[in-house]
Amino acid sequence: MSAFVRACALSELEEDTPKRVELDGTPVSLVRTEGEVFAIHDICSHANVSLSEGEVEDCQIECWLHGSTFDLRTGKPSGLPATRPVPVYPVKIEGDDVLVSVSQEN
Ligand code: FES
Repeated sequence: MSAFVRACALSELEEDTPKRVELDGTPVSLVRTEGEVFAIHDICSHANVSLSEGEVEDCQIECWLHGSTFDLRTGKPSGLPATRPVPVYPVKIEGDDVLVSVSQEN
């Protein structure tokens, strides 16, 4: 089951600038980068920190607190101290609408 809900307008997303949204009670960071839009759970797997406040580079988002980076395609951390992945969610673009399914992790 995958229920896509509208997260925001595509035109609201600036390149490499994460946007935090709440979808069905789930905090999600939306990132437009390298011609695609990604949706990653907005809480770091290491501590309760919002990933949308971090920087984006090379399809990775960096946790600002301790510097672990997470792959926006897979949610996997590339370095310590985080060892567990962060959920990532499927994204669909329909016209100017960004749709995300938080009921289904990629
Ligand atoms: S809270 Fe994110 S790496 Fe520590």
